[in-house]
Amino acid sequence: MPADPHTPDSAVEPAAGRTFPPGFLWGTATASYQIEGAVDTDGRTPSIWDTFSHTPGKVRNGDTGDRATDHYHRWREDVALLADLGVGAYRFSLAWPRVQPTGRGPALEKGLDFYRRLTDELLEKGIQPVATLYHWDLPQELEDAGGWPERDTAERFAEYAALAGEALGDRVRTWITLNEPWCSAFLGYGSGVHAPGRTEPEASLRAAHHLNLGHGLAVQALRSATPAGTQVSLTLNLHQVRPLTDSPEDADAVRRIDGTANRVFTGPILHGAYPADVQEDTAHLTDWSFVRDGDTETIRQPLDFLGVNYYSPTLVSAARGDGDHGADGHGASSHSPWPSGEGVAFHRSPGETTAMGWTIDPDGLYDLLLRVRDEVPGLPVMICENGAAFHDYADPEGAVRDPERIAYLHGHLAAMHRAMEAGVDLRGYFLWSLLDNFEWGHGYSKRFGLVHVDYPTGRRTPKDSARWYGQVARSNSLPA
Ligand code: NOJ
Repeated sequence: MPADPHTPDSAVEPAAGRTFPPGFLWGTATASYQIEGAVDTDGRTPSIWDTFSHTPGKVRNGDTGDRATDHYHRWREDVALLADLGVGAYRFSLAWPRVQPTGRGPALEKGLDFYRRLTDELLEKGIQPVATLYHWDLPQELEDAGGWPERDTAERFAEYAALAGEALGDRVRTWITLNEPWCSAFLGYGSGVHAPGRTEPEASLRAAHHLNLGHGLAVQALRSATPAGTQVSLTLNLHQVRPLTDSPEDADAVRRIDGTANRVFTGPILHGAYPADVQEDTAHLTDWSFVRDGDTETIRQPLDFLGVNYYSPTLVSAARGDGDHGADGHGASSHSPWPSGEGVAFHRSPGETTAMGWTIDPDGLYDLLLRVRDEVPGLPVMICENGAAFHDYADPEGAVRDPERIAYLHGHLAAMHRAMEAGVDLRGYFLWSLLDNFEWGHGYSKRFGLVHVDYPTGRRTPKDSARWYGQVARSNSLPA
């Protein structure tokens, strides 16, 4: 049939143009503290986020995860929501203080049982479970003993990984050791906007190293505790750092921020060494003697894929006295999360923003994926998080209309598809998040879910974006 000259190009674009490869994994993601609630049920002990959220002034409106979305009791309903969506995978995290309440010693069977039930139900519905071991809820007892700046925490993490792998390795075939260790190290121990709220630049670098070490040890532990063929990796919130101008000074600002945003993790994890410039940029804080012989070999473990989280790019320049200092999108604090950031100014990237104030920039995702392709050729990639918060509400008919989220997702999935055409070996995409949930220092004020949660009643209402994303997942293609 001849093309109608009035039909816009996009409408006649062959469907195959935006089709994804067979087996591409479509999923959604959540994290234990953000959704579970039931914080003192079945032997769970406090994590650093319980302590932090109960400290006045740390979380907006004094919100805590005490109840959250009550997923601990509503998990069956939530799996049904996933099944209705039609996604093939679900990324969730295990609460360390449920599985090993003091961070030491044997596992608590009751805690493990929750994840056994959850994963059985997922498998029953044909949904692949992807388990994250650490999405920021460190047992408080381990923080009392010094937390991530202490080497012992890395050892404890490996022990917990072995317990989790032994108990769930028959059901969970894909594991993620750490989620966004940048946040744990630099927001937790640097700027203090995340738990445990410490503002100690030297400790934040020690924490980064011990998170890296914990990752390496946990990969080893998982490999010996789980059946052959188990997929293991971690999830990094790689920052796409851009210069304000093309001056050499701004290029140097990018190099500095890229150092502790990305390369302090990718250096040892992917290449087996800390970058010399990162060590030089932070030499005023530490001599790095906490890195012992053999550590970087332990950290560099073979991975089955790389998990990447992306929301928005970062724009920097050399400080000129007129800069938009501190607007790095990672929360307001008079303490910097950037130990390598001396002389660097942060700026708001141009363009529309989400309710987080983060600029919507799908090209940032494209550029980031190409960087990964070039840096670690041959390593498959999974987008373990991407999504957006908007001011969603149920209208009088009870519907939640979120065209902005659909537009955000459309742009980012199109960028992802372009990246795949450019040779990025991308295997899956996990949308953040299945449910509206506890957005850390922002409490419940930011809604990232495909499914709206009415917090007083716990009622779940799929938003328009849920139907849209379900269609993408089921058809394995992006509409024009
Ligand atoms: C990254 C974190 O992993 C997740 O916990 C958080 O809610 C989202 N980004 C949105 O900020």
